[in-house]
Amino acid sequence: MATPHNTANMGDIAETVLLPGDPLRAKYIAETYLEDVLQFNAVRNMFGYTGTYNGKRISVMGTGMGCASIGIYSYELIHFYGVKNLIRIGSCGAIQEHVKLGDIVMAMGACTDTNYAHQYKLSGSFSATASFDLLLRAQQMAEKKGYSYVVGNVVSSDVFYDESEEWKEWKKMGVLASEMESFALYCNAARAGANALAIFTVSDSLVSGEGMSAMERQTGFARMMEVALEAACN
Ligand code: HPA
Repeated sequence: MATPHNTANMGDIAETVLLPGDPLRAKYIAETYLEDVLQFNAVRNMFGYTGTYNGKRISVMGTGMGCASIGIYSYELIHFYGVKNLIRIGSCGAIQEHVKLGDIVMAMGACTDTNYAHQYKLSGSFSATASFDLLLRAQQMAEKKGYSYVVGNVVSSDVFYDESEEWKEWKKMGVLASEMESFALYCNAARAGANALAIFTVSDSLVSGEGMSAMERQTGFARMMEVALEAACN
């Protein structure tokens, strides 16, 4: 049963899906880390693949940027394809001094400046949180490998070019980093009883203005992938 954005049939997609923002990242992950890969989607070039990792069936699909985009893809994965575990892998901008380029950020919670949760008609604000099980597995893997990581809140913003520097207000609340998708993912998972986690490589720092080199990005990405695959496949 296809959706307007996904031509996969029921059964084509694994119960656990890795979700990079960039569809070409999804292709790279499928080619680099998975075996026996089949592509299930190319609508809008939002590539999706299913394969195996250490014998376990796993899928990977792009989400696009922003809560609106990941909101659509993750909703369909959960409601139309029976996906149970959704792990976003992305990059983020640090908004605290102690969060360094190349660190892994694990989003225990996601704040937002978006209206995504208005659809639920709640009488207050919703605390969007990660699956504790997925988070614990990711944290244990990062600890075991000795990777530098931080666990806490992120802010999923609609705004990448933040002219009014609102990140400085989130910084005062102890929020670790800015990105654009986790809140919608966590809301969709919570609403449907699915499990979600978002982890990131810190690719730039809004505090210091530094950014990663191409080489640093590659190394950081590989570390994050090890952590994500461990969380996904155990
Ligand atoms: N803001 C939002 N998303 C990001 C950033 C940022 O600074 N860096 C990497 N992804």
